[in-house]
This record gives sequence, structure tokens and C-alpha cells, in this order.
Amino acid sequence: MATKEIPKHIGIIMDGNGRWAKKRLLPRVLGHKQGAKALDNLLHSAKGLGVEHITVYAFSTENWKRAEEEVSGIMGILRDYINKYFREYADSDFRVDSVGDLSALSEDLQRDIEALKEASKDKKGIHLTIAMNYGGRDEITRAVKKIAQEVKNGNIDVNDINEDMISQNLDSAGTPDPELIIRTSGEFRTSNFLLWQSAYSEYYITDKLWPDFNIDDFKDAINSYMKRDRRFGGRNEVVK
Ligand code: IPE
Ligand code: IPE
Ligand code: MG
Repeated sequence: MATKEIPKHIGIIMDGNGRWAKKRLLPRVLGHKQGAKALDNLLHSAKGLGVEHITVYAFSTENWKRAEEEVSGIMGILRDYINKYFREYADSDFRVDSVGDLSALSEDLQRDIEALKEASKDKKGIHLTIAMNYGGRDEITRAVKKIAQEVKNGNIDVNDINEDMISQNLDSAGTPDPELIIRTSGEFRTSNFLLWQSAYSEYYITDKLWPDFNIDDFKDAINSYMKRDRRFGGRNEVVK
């Protein structure tokens, strides 16, 4: 039995900016710039489809391993993106949000992000979450520390710890798990994206490089999802 419903939450691993630039003999940073434009275009066209939450993977906890020049280029693009597009989104009907450990980012950028989150928290349009300095393992580790501290303080008992409590201590607390995760540029791996939340997510992998990904590709991914048979470990057949 196909799912048939539009996914409410879609996660996107925006991969392939470097390859996009390389194909054109351009510096990698220009690939990231084009990737930011692709995201803005997609978000404008995604309105009205019925998707309520979109989480995009912009920078992983592992991406610091890249050359200093590329890391600072990406940070500059992220800063421009937050200050221009995030501000525009928050001024229209988007609710903007973030996951990841922002403490590694510059203080003024952290302040800007927090202010935009606060200003847009009641907006009814798409809830857009940007994953910055995000790693699923890092997020789970930070959640475990928060819970351990509560146990230590005597506020909860070890036996009170359950899956729901862990979810509520993740950066994504309050957002439903993504039904669909899209990864561009053909890699079949999670690269540490939403590890806990994606336990039963459907994956859609396309060879398209992120800067080339557009609303038609997004709709293809949704259509593919809607044909899937999701079983969550159970059985959908009519039991006789
Ligand atoms: C994704 O593009 C963006 C980030 C990881 C920041 P890549 O830079 O990973 O592009 P490829 O995988 O090298 O093509
Ligand atoms: C995942 O892409 C991270 C982002 C898209 C931000 P990577 O390019 O960093 O992942 P790997 O290195 O191919 O696993
Ligand atoms: Mg990559």
C-alpha cells in the first residue's frame, strides 16, 4: 500500500557543490554560492506544496576538516545567507530555525540567528531549519549530557529516560521526524545527518548536483516517496 500523503517534513543533504564547480573549472566556493541560490529558489517554489518542515544540511561537524580557504568561504556564504535570505524569510511567512552547535560560529552570527528565530517563531509558513555545524552524533551526545545532568541534579530518575525524552533533548525537539530525506549527487550515505530522527525516513538519492537541483526534482522526490510502502517493521498486508 503506497503512502499517498505529502511528506510533512523533508530533510535535504545538499551535496555536490564542489563537483558542480569542478565541472566548470571554477573555484569550489563558487559552487557553494550557486548552491545557496539553488536553495533560495527551491524554498520560494516549495510554498503551497503542503510540505510543513524542511531541514537542510548546510555544514557538518566534519566539514571543518576541509581546507581553511573553503571553510572560510562557506562561512562567509552562510553569513550572507542568514543576513539576507533568512531575514527575508522571517519577514514573510517562514519560521526560521537551526540545528547544530552554533557555539562554534561567531558571536554576532549566533545573535542574528537567535533574533530571527525569535522574530519568526509564530509564522505559519514553511518551518525552515538550517543544520549548521551539525552532526547527528554530536547532537545525541549533547542530549545525553543534558539528561545526565538532570539525573545528577536529582530532577529525574534513570528509569524515566525513554525515547521520547531523548527526542525532546535533541536540537530538533518539537519538530516531527522527517518522512523523506533527499540526497543530491549520488552518494548513498547519511554523513551524520539526523541520525536519531531518520530511523524510519525514506531516502531519495539523485545524481543531480545540488546547484542543479530544482522544484521539478523536489516534486519527483515527493512523488517517489508517495509510491513507497512504509511498514515501520510491521506488516501492511491484510492478515487473514
Ligand atoms: C556540499 O557540497 C556542501 C558542503 C558539504 C558544505 P560539497 O562541497 O560536499 O560538494 P562535493 O561533494 O565535493 O561535490
Ligand atoms: C554532507 O556532505 C554534509 C553537507 C551536505 C553539509 P559531505 O560532502 O560533507 O559528505 P561526505 O564527506 O561525502 O560524506
Ligand atoms: Mg560532498
